[in-house]
Parts: sequence; structure tokens; C-alpha cells
Amino acid sequence: MSFKATARAGSNIAFIKYWGVADPHLNIPLNNSISMTLGALHTTTTVEWDVAGYLSADQIVIDGVRAEGPKAERVTRHLDFIRHLAGDRRFRARVVSRNNFPMASGIASSASAFAALTMAACTAIGLSLDRTQLSAIARRGSGSASRSIFGGYVEWERGGSDATSVARQLFPPDYWPLRDVVAVVSTNEKTVSSQNGHALALTSPLNSARVDAVYGMLHEVRNAIALRDLEHLGPLIEQDALAMHAVMMTSRPSLLYWQPGTLEVLHAVRRWREEDGLPVYFTIDAGPNVHLLCEPAFERELLRRLQTLSSVRTVMTSGPGEGAEVIDQHLF
Ligand code: DP6
Repeated sequence: MSFKATARAGSNIAFIKYWGVADPHLNIPLNNSISMTLGALHTTTTVEWDVAGYLSADQIVIDGVRAEGPKAERVTRHLDFIRHLAGDRRFRARVVSRNNFPMASGIASSASAFAALTMAACTAIGLSLDRTQLSAIARRGSGSASRSIFGGYVEWERGGSDATSVARQLFPPDYWPLRDVVAVVSTNEKTVSSQNGHALALTSPLNSARVDAVYGMLHEVRNAIALRDLEHLGPLIEQDALAMHAVMMTSRPSLLYWQPGTLEVLHAVRRWREEDGLPVYFTIDAGPNVHLLCEPAFERELLRRLQTLSSVRTVMTSGPGEGAEVIDQHLF
């Protein structure tokens, strides 16, 4: 046995958001969330456990740079959890990770990063686990990573314990080739990470109203995906993205992720939809960039129009992709 494995996992875009934790230690969310795993935006991670005992600490390299401080500590904490599961706390690890999208693009990398890390580290240490178990482990590292273990359209069940707060696939990637067109309006690092933001959700007076609204919408969202009905799904996605940002803005302290460019894109999309009938809907994560969802037939026209907006710096696109997988090509 080589104690080395490599895994690749796609990022994901949430239609119903994960925002706020009921249990910060276990990363149990306040509500179920639903997302699409992205095929074109992914992280590849190789983990090798140092069974010979050469290393005195984990060695972590992300996109060619040695990770230090809180970033490295977060990875080490996750490796500690996996070491504990495997029953051997001594092994340190070499971890090399690479994103195929720029970290500065503001695309959530924690989902794909912790899904790939979980699968690579568990495989390399010889734990034989199914996707549900991997999803529970990935959740400890990053909530949204629990969804990236699965491909296609995915729901993360809030659950009530470590074992029951897990994701499952609703539909495979080829069920509906929806497109996610990401309008990047700012490449600055966000000022408040989503990890810290989750703790603030409960301080907003709007939080419980949003969580109640989510529970009223989940069935409709699942149905709209089942029917491949973007006209029905789109307004629900927009409503929850706006509700989440309303919670963020009204937290104490307040979080304001939007930039002027965010609003330029939101207004343009609504104008294109209302005046020209272009069926495109938006969602926004914990950052200023806008994810636009459309059917493949409208992607070219959407890209053409986005080029006319002065605040759009770059655009990235993806359809639905497979869940995390072990691959043969190691990064070292
Ligand atoms: C706004 O999963 O990044 O993207 O668990 O702290 O890693 P951590 O948070 P994370 O939060 C995602 C927040 C979101 C919405 C979503 O993807 O559901």
C-alpha cells in the first residue's frame, strides 16, 4: 500500500443557500441547501501520509504556494479528524492542491477543496467509505464541501447529528445541462470569510424568517429541477440569494459583500429578462460576483451582453459535473 492518493472535486453553486450554523463544531447548518456541482471549476488534491515519520508537521501547498497560518491550520484540523477516524494520530501528511480557476476569482474554493482533500486523504489512509460517509467528513472541513462529494443536483440535509447531516444526489449531471455563467466583477479577497459569516447569521432579525421561507421552498425547488423548469426555479433561486444577503446586511456587525458592479449585473439581468425575454436568473454567494443560470441555448447571447457591462472583468462558465473522484494523476 502506497499511502498516497489523488482526488478531484468540482465546486458547486447553491440554489438554496447554506447560511448560518446550528452547531459550529459539527458544521450542522440551519437549513437544508440545494446546489449544482460544477464540472468545469474543480480542485485536484494529492495526499501522501508520511508513514516513515520524516515530517514533524503537515506540509501543505496550494496553487504552488506553501500554506501557512489559519489556512494551513484549517487543513491540519481536517487531517486530524481523518487521522482520528483512521485510528492513527501519528502520521503527518504531504498535501498538494491545485484549482483550475483562479482563487482570486472569488469562486468558492472551499467546497471543491475540502471535498477533494477528504476523498484523497481517506483513500490514502486506507479508509473505505461510501459517498454518504465522505459527505459527513467533508462537511466538518467546509459545509458546502459535503455537497461537492456528489455530482449533478444535490441536497444537503440539515440533519441533527454528525452522521445525519449529509448530502445526497437528487439528479445526475446529465439530467439537465443548465449553465452557470459567473460574472466576475471584483477579484479582491473577501473581507469576511463565509466561515466567520456563518456565526453572524443568528444576530440578524431576518434570519428566522429566511429559514422559515427556505422550508416553504425546498419542495418547489426540487420539483422545478425535476421538471427542468427554469422559469419556475429562477425566481426561487433569486429570492433565497436576496434573502441570504438581507440576513448578511442586517447582521451585527453587518456584512456587505456587494460592490457597485454586483448591482450593475443584477439590474442588467432583470432588464434583459423583462424587456427582451432573455431567460436568465441570478444568484450570489458570499462575495460580489454574480452567478447567472440559463439554458445552453441562451449562453452565447448572455456572454455577448455581459461584455457590454463595464464592471464585468472576466466570465467563467460551467455546466453540471460529476461528484468527487479518485484519479491516477498525482500532483507529486
Ligand atoms: C454563501 O461552505 O464556504 O456559498 O463551512 O465555513 O466553509 P464553511 O462555509 P462555506 O459556506 C458557503 C456559503 C455560501 C452558500 C452555499 O454555498 O450554500
